Amino acid sequence: MAARASAAAARCIALLLILLAGTSSAQLSSSFYSSSCPGLYSAVKSVVQSAIAREKRMAASIVRLFFHDCFVQGCDASLLLDDTASFQGEKMAKPNNGSVRGFEVIDAIKSAVEKACPGVVSCADILAIAARDSVVILGGPTWNVKLGRRDSTAASFSGANNNIPPPTSGLANLTSLFAAQGLSQKDMVALSGAHTIGLARCTNFRAHIYNETDIDGTFARTRQSGCPSTSGTGDNNLAPLDLQTPTVFENNYYKNLVSKKGLLHSDQELFNGGATDAQVQSYVSSQSTFFADFVTGMIKMGDITPLTGSKGEIRKNCRRIN
Ligand code: HEM
Ligand SMILES: *[C@@H]1O[C@H](CO)[C@@H](O)[C@H](O)[C@H]1NC(C)=O
Ligand SMILES: *[C@@H]1O[C@H](CO)[C@@H](O)[C@H](O)[C@H]1NC(C)=O
Ligand SMILES: *[C@@H]1O[C@H](CO)[C@@H](O)[C@H](O)[C@H]1NC(C)=O
Repeated sequence: MAARASAAAARCIALLLILLAGTSSAQLSSSFYSSSCPGLYSAVKSVVQSAIAREKRMAASIVRLFFHDCFVQGCDASLLLDDTASFQGEKMAKPNNGSVRGFEVIDAIKSAVEKACPGVVSCADILAIAARDSVVILGGPTWNVKLGRRDSTAASFSGANNNIPPPTSGLANLTSLFAAQGLSQKDMVALSGAHTIGLARCTNFRAHIYNETDIDGTFARTRQSGCPSTSGTGDNNLAPLDLQTPTVFENNYYKNLVSKKGLLHSDQELFNGGATDAQVQSYVSSQSTFFADFVTGMIKMGDITPLTGSKGEIRKNCRRIN
């Protein structure tokens, strides 16, 4: 009797361990808010749609917010926190200062979502859905967004400076900064395809167009005409990351790299005689391969160390902790 009971208890414990192991690798789920906030997806999409209708670049800016959030403490909306006299956020860190944008759109989504289901949906999840919707609206692939992240009560200025790759990075450094987040070199090349949309400032591509040889000469001269060679008033002049179609999400970014028309040094590093050339070529030949790998990368990026369960909080206002 006692032996049978303890065998049953052992089976019970084994089952529990299996269940726990299962949840630790799949804490997020696309049905997380299906009963607590059924209107979530439509609320997010309608605000994203009207923001992009006003300015197409906003889609790019939102996708980038998700990247810069996820690379610092995981996807926890730490990037959205404003600086105060007693709180240092991430917005002034080098990769973000004067560069990241779209916070008003996230605020507008948050208030629409709060109206539909108060106190339920995290800012981190809102950002994940908004990034997906932005890609879709500009013609890119869709995917099911995993949800259940909670919002941080801390930010990391130094994490933003150290984890987000600068555009001067070489292939080895790009690879290692992604590896530090659990993302492979293949993910890095696929996720960089987000540079098929959006703009960059002169200060970030000046050295590449004036001082480097791995660039098409005509393209370099065209970009030089909008970006003075010395730092100063022209630093914030903008140029498209994809010279042809910066508001359409397709594989043109990789076509540019093959013709030495990458805007950033880091872009051209992906096609420069190194280990990632073949992957770039494969995306030139097959947009659907790029789309599939981009989706895999976005889902993996969205899985970076989320706060779940009772960790963190559901912020009322994405700009400050409750
Ligand atoms: C691989 C390493 C990466 C580097 C070095 C890098 C660097 C940069 C830089 C320097 C800019 C221009 C910022 C400015 O001048 O203000 C930029 C823009 C952008 N980045 Fe990246 N990035 C990388 C990866 C990614 C990833 C993984 C994503 C998203 C999945 C992404 C999405 C974007 C978008 C959409 C823009 C345009 C934003 C806008 O127009 O507002 N980037 N990136
Ligand atoms: C952020 O940018 C502003 C304006 O360019 C500059 O005045 C400020 O010093 C920068 N902050 C940091 C922390 O670098
Ligand atoms: C690349 O990484 C090396 C070694 O970690 C470092 O010394 C170097 O400054 C990095 N370069 C860039 C451009 O990030
Ligand atoms: C190009 O390189 C030279 C020599 O290293 C340097 O003095 C100059 O400032 C660089 N120019 C740009 C635009 O990066």
